[in-house]
Amino acid sequence: MSMKCNILLFILILFAFNLHAEDGHNLWLRGKSSGSVNIVCAKSSSTLDIAKQELVQGWQGQNGAKFTLKIKKDKAIKSDGFILSENEVQANTELGILYGVYELLRRQQTGQTIQNEICNPSYGCRVLNHWDNLDGTVERGYAGHSIFWHDGEKGYAVNDNDRKLWKEYARANASIGINGSVLNNVNSSKLMLTKQCLEKVKAVAELLRPYGIKTYLSVKLSSPSLIGGLKTSDPLNPEVIKWWKDKVKEIYKIIPDFGGFLIKANSEGEPGPQDFGRSHADGANMLADAVKPFGGIIMWRAFVYEANSKDRACQAYKEFMPLDGQFRDNVIIQVKNGPVDFQPREPFTPLFGALKRTSVMPELQITQEYLGHSIQLVYLANMWEEFLKSETYQEGIGSTVARITDGSIFPQKYTAIAGVANIGLDTNWCGHQFAQSNWYAFGRLAWNNQLTSEKIADEWLKLTFSQKKEKSANLNASDWLKNFLAPVKRLMLESRDATVNYSMPLGLHHIFAGLNNTHYGPGPWFSPKGIRIDWTSAYYHKADSFGIGFDRTTKGSGAVSQYHEPLSSQFENPATCPEIYLLWFLHLPWDYKMKDGRILWNELCYTYDKGVNEVRQFQKTWDKVQPYVDAQRFSEVQCKLRLQCHDAQVWKDGCLLYFQQFSKRPIPFDIERPVYDLDYLMKTDLTDMLK
Ligand code: GCU
Repeated sequence: MSMKCNILLFILILFAFNLHAEDGHNLWLRGKSSGSVNIVCAKSSSTLDIAKQELVQGWQGQNGAKFTLKIKKDKAIKSDGFILSENEVQANTELGILYGVYELLRRQQTGQTIQNEICNPSYGCRVLNHWDNLDGTVERGYAGHSIFWHDGEKGYAVNDNDRKLWKEYARANASIGINGSVLNNVNSSKLMLTKQCLEKVKAVAELLRPYGIKTYLSVKLSSPSLIGGLKTSDPLNPEVIKWWKDKVKEIYKIIPDFGGFLIKANSEGEPGPQDFGRSHADGANMLADAVKPFGGIIMWRAFVYEANSKDRACQAYKEFMPLDGQFRDNVIIQVKNGPVDFQPREPFTPLFGALKRTSVMPELQITQEYLGHSIQLVYLANMWEEFLKSETYQEGIGSTVARITDGSIFPQKYTAIAGVANIGLDTNWCGHQFAQSNWYAFGRLAWNNQLTSEKIADEWLKLTFSQKKEKSANLNASDWLKNFLAPVKRLMLESRDATVNYSMPLGLHHIFAGLNNTHYGPGPWFSPKGIRIDWTSAYYHKADSFGIGFDRTTKGSGAVSQYHEPLSSQFENPATCPEIYLLWFLHLPWDYKMKDGRILWNELCYTYDKGVNEVRQFQKTWDKVQPYVDAQRFSEVQCKLRLQCHDAQVWKDGCLLYFQQFSKRPIPFDIERPVYDLDYLMKTDLTDMLK
């Protein structure tokens, strides 16, 4: 063969190989059937047909077995729940059948037992919030452009690629029980409610519907004056009320199962009812009345804070507590897990456990705005588990956030949970192969808020990293469990704490670099002239020659009083405040004695150093599992872990050298020295260093 032919052959082989290259696009949906299944189902519909197709494609039970899909009412089954047994899924609804099939296949593929079992969802509405802008960009998105919106002329057109992707997206969501998508940014465009935009929403809704996913929209409360030609958007003005009623009718005419609206009002410059001297309840109820006849809901965000020097962590509580009991039953107050803003670690927002006559839903952030974007490997389920299991003491012990939001303690007409999506046009959807686990974990926890992060990681790894490679390398299944599953699962489970350790340990928060507003690297020094005080870092860490930390005790901002006893007394006292929240609630001297006998300054140093070492360990773990991972995903994750190590070092050096100016104490001599100069770090945004 000539040289030319050889090269051609090589290219062809490479091409063929690439066609099968593992790029991560298939997410956790890789199960292929190992035999045939004989499906018995009396009905046919688009949703049931999907369920049947999934069964045929993914069946790994006994070859030729009979499997029944039965729609039959049973009081023990709630909403779209189901009863699963080895040979049958029974549900009240078609969607219940679909969820049951996905659960069955998941169990078959991960080797879990299937007994006669009732599976009911924890929350009725399990919703992704896409912070997607109509020009295709995604606020705090790190996985490319929007899957829904395109820039420029093509903006509202829909093509076959869109339809294919939306279907894949719908399938992935349905497989983990997600049943709602807010298609656009909470900082909404005024164009969202125009006819052109709504036609596009209709096209998306049609693709999502068979998979049981309702569409929702974020809208501006000032829409009546911005696009409706009215002089005001006052929610109590009759013309405004009529405008919304008409608009809602127009929407339901083309999208009969439209879910409702998500509203960011009087927050970070967004318009709201207070612009007209009205309350959040006035605004929310007006919209609630408009969507009520159609079964819609209003998710009204509690993320509000004024531009002042008062403690931002206290403000949502102060704003919403006086309104408790004033909201319609189809309004749900959407509250971020922490009182400041999706930090790597925050105590839960005290509104959970405080509102008693108002429906409340948690908002989690799947996209890693403050946890390393799509560069760092951070598995977030531990953080959400910690939050959902937090005791609020609203009705004594057992009043966890999970139980007070899922209707177990207070009946709510609607229960819901939202996650800010991490999805974009990147081939692997989420920017980082492991960020897919956070999308997966959100769905699984929304369905069952009692699941452990360990169980979810176990499932996700088994579904996502197939064992094919292992077979070809002649390694057996127990090798895979021991040498791949166990160490990688440990890595995932340790990853969130590692991030807290090298970035904001012991309750520190919001000390990010601000130069490019990226919220990526360290910036405890960030304090440009003229910026509002609560957007500077010093506002949060309050480091001075005495010590460090935000005094939220009764002598300070008083935020501790927003929690029920015994929490409020626990947080008030350094001896009883959990050390993970120490500097969140207290301003303590540098030589404060920690439980392990170290002084606070030394503890900070050791913790930052520990975080860096943990990521170094993650690198070793990952390199060792190479024989078990396909080449593309292996090297992608390996490269990102290198960046993460670098960035962890920058965090440690930046924070310790900066705080050392106040503590005036040496960094303990048995830990690695900083490798960067503070001056350099203060002038350089970490995102610029990565370019
Ligand atoms: C954060 C985030 C913003 C976002 C806001 C919100 O502040 O940085 O981009 O708009 O949260 O949740 O509304």
